Parts: sequence; C-alpha cells; structure tokens
Amino acid sequence: MSTYNRKDSYYKKAKAAGYRSRAAYKLLELTKREKLFAKQMKVLDLGCAPGGWLQVAAKLVGPKGLVVGIDRLEVQALDLANVKVIQGDITDSNTRESLTKALGGKAGLVLSDMAPDTSGVGFADHHQSVQLVRMAVQIGAQTLVPGGKFCAKVFEGAELNELISEIKKDFKKVRRVKPKATRKGSRELYLICTGFGLAQPNLPHY
Ligand SMILES: C[S@@+](CC[C@H](N)C(=O)[O-])C[C@H]1O[C@@H](n2cnc3c(N)ncnc32)[C@H](O)[C@@H]1O
Repeated sequence: MSTYNRKDSYYKKAKAAGYRSRAAYKLLELTKREKLFAKQMKVLDLGCAPGGWLQVAAKLVGPKGLVVGIDRLEVQALDLANVKVIQGDITDSNTRESLTKALGGKAGLVLSDMAPDTSGVGFADHHQSVQLVRMAVQIGAQTLVPGGKFCAKVFEGAELNELISEIKKDFKKVRRVKPKATRKGSRELYLICTGFGLAQPNLPHY
C-alpha cells in the first residue's frame, strides 16, 4: 500500500491559504524550531520554485528585507516587492554571479530546498542530494554574514554524517530536523546550521 498522497492535509491547507506549495508549512515549522528570520534580513532561497518558501520568507523579513530566489524552473510572478527571482542552475557560475548581484550585500540566511531529479535508486539520489547541499554550503560561505544561518534539505543516507562533519567546520551548531509536514515515508530531513564562521576549531590535545 502506498503512503504517498499528493493531496494530503498539508496540500489542502496550503491551497486554502494561498501558498504555492505545501513546503511552505515545512519552513514555518523549521523556523519555529530555530528562529531563522528577522525583519530587514537578506535571504537567499536556493531551489525556490514554485515559490511557497518565497511567500513565507517575504512575510517574515518584512518590506525592508529582501529575498532572492533561484531555480532552474520558471517561477510564476509573485507580485511581492521584496522578492527577486532568478532562473538558472546554481551549478552555473554565471547564475551564481547574478545571484550575488541581486542580493547586493551579504545574507543573514541561506535556504536550500533543492532536490535532485530522483532516479529511484536510493543511494544515488542520496549522493546527488548531498552534492547539492555541498554546493549550497559553498554559496553560503561566500554569501553569509558572520553568525549567519543556513538551512538545507538532504536525503538521509550513508554520507550524511560526513556531510555534517564538513558543515561543522563552518557553523557553530548543526541540528537535524524532520518537519511534520514532510510526506510520510520520505527520506528527507533538514539541517539547520547556525553561527556561520563561529565554529570552534578542533584544537589538538597536548
Ligand atoms: C522541492 S522544490 C522547492 C520547493 C520550494 N521550496 C517551495 O516552497 O515552493 C525543489 C526545487 O529545487 C530545484 N533545483 C534542483 N536542483 C537545482 C539546481 N541545481 N539549480 C537550481 N534549482 C535546482 C528544482 O528545480 C525544484 O524546483
């Protein structure tokens, strides 16, 4: 029996509330667990289509904040004054340059809800997802203010602990969170990382 029901309660809730995706509820839950947003903040949203996270982020940073979203897919115009959207692939250096320009300064928060095109082969999809997080961390390292935050989706699997060890070199704290709004049976979870540039170096013991 399949546990996948595209039109589950979060889907219906999102539709009724005018959110572009049920994923909006995941971000609302993530920011409840660890306060991610602040008014006037600059936020980068990697893998932003169709735009549910953009809607949530735009509201939480307020009219003086800025949310820059990027996706390979086109995002239908949102009509939100504090949101800019770029269409492109983050693995392309030209796209990354446009993103820096659009942001016009450092970000307080980098989000990534990017998911690879899944093949159905668990370990391969996990590996691709880890690679996307690595790319997002690189962008974060070039973009975040000291003390900045990072939150990224990753599929569970064998490389997860290694990925977390890598991230801990850049961030003070890394938490794994599985929002309730995640579909039943899904292997996705989110890494909430805080304190960019404030990680304690692993000093040798003498
Ligand atoms: C789960 S969806 C994001 C949903 C979004 N957070 C929302 O609330 O509407 C994942 C997105 O990541 C995008 N994506 C995956 N790899 C990407 C890449 N290399 N560059 C840009 N976007 C990418 C996909 O096109 C897809 O739209």
